[in-house]
Amino acid sequence: MKATLLLKVDPLKPDLAKIKVVADIIKRGGLVAFPTETVYGLGADALNPDAVRALFEAKKRPLDNPPIVHVENVEDVDSLAKYVPEKAKLLMKKFWPGPLTLVLERSEAIPDVTVAGLNTVAVRMPRNKVALSLIRLSGCPIAAPSANLAGRPSPTTAQHVWDDLNGRIDAILDGGPARIGVESTVLDMSIDTPLILRPGGVSFEELKNVIEDVRLHPFVAAEQEVVVGEARSPGMRHKHYAPKARMVVVEGSVPAIMVKVKELVTQYTREGSRVGVLATDETSSNYLAYVVKSLGSRFNVEAIAQNLFRLLREFDSENVDVIIAESVPAEGLGLAVMNRLRKASGYNIVKADKLP
Ligand code: TXA
Ligand code: MG
Repeated sequence: MKATLLLKVDPLKPDLAKIKVVADIIKRGGLVAFPTETVYGLGADALNPDAVRALFEAKKRPLDNPPIVHVENVEDVDSLAKYVPEKAKLLMKKFWPGPLTLVLERSEAIPDVTVAGLNTVAVRMPRNKVALSLIRLSGCPIAAPSANLAGRPSPTTAQHVWDDLNGRIDAILDGGPARIGVESTVLDMSIDTPLILRPGGVSFEELKNVIEDVRLHPFVAAEQEVVVGEARSPGMRHKHYAPKARMVVVEGSVPAIMVKVKELVTQYTREGSRVGVLATDETSSNYLAYVVKSLGSRFNVEAIAQNLFRLLREFDSENVDVIIAESVPAEGLGLAVMNRLRKASGYNIVKADKLP
């Protein structure tokens, strides 16, 4: 067990002396959790194979699922990628720093373990002052998966990181709650037609405005589990975001969702289960369950994304047996929300509008 150092920093005016302390930990091959605009990341020197191996171990992450390599400026990508396609340059100009990860052909400078033996590397420049200062002061690109134990919801606060990783990592930089709340969009630029492998903070619609030929991988909007072998991203194969309770997602029009959720609440309660409902501001007062939580207003998908992982974690501490979650429209940021909800449920989806 390690003594995990917890350091609070002002997200807008970070104290560089504090960040220097943890940057030195990274330089020495240690593990530091830090805030980004999407979720908290668990960082290690991307060029130090031992540090990256320790990173996988701390998270209990399978070695075949590579982390994202975080950079502090666009030029840093040149040493990580074999080459940077023109379209990728355009996207960096438009969306960096920000929640867009680009998969590029890797250079030989990166250790195999950092890319899980793949011939590509995922890179991103985060839009968060604490993260950018940390990368700069560390003097190396930082490999950082989300700072949760593998399979758990991604952390959007330093407390979430503490709950999962206290004693397993060297330090946590607390820069307040994450602004976006869902992870970055992962876009494969190593193939002719750019392909979204994970929906996230930059929407499909926004990307289409810049590069017309971008496509969604069928699994991104999938309503079923991925078939191994067809997955282009290792992350598609692994269990994700799972709360302790079993979960069901109810999809359809809002009136039909409300009818179906009520019906399921009654059924599960009768069976003796403690039922949690993950609802929205517009619908939550309609349910009589053991716990009802609201993601936020249906008219504010940004708030819904921000609250999602926190609420999934809260249900764990409420000890519910089953979570019934309402769906939101799968467009814009809503696609990322629905992708996470469906994965969290293990693709246990009920269509509310379907006639019996
Ligand atoms: O917002 C984010 O992206 C956060 C913050 C910390 O930056 N990071 C994050 O990392 O979500 P992680 O490791 O939890 O998710 C990275 C995803 C995984 O699904 C992984 O399979 C995929 O990116 N990935 C990494 N390298 C890849 C590659 N070379 N090709 C395809 N997918 C890759
Ligand atoms: Mg993750």
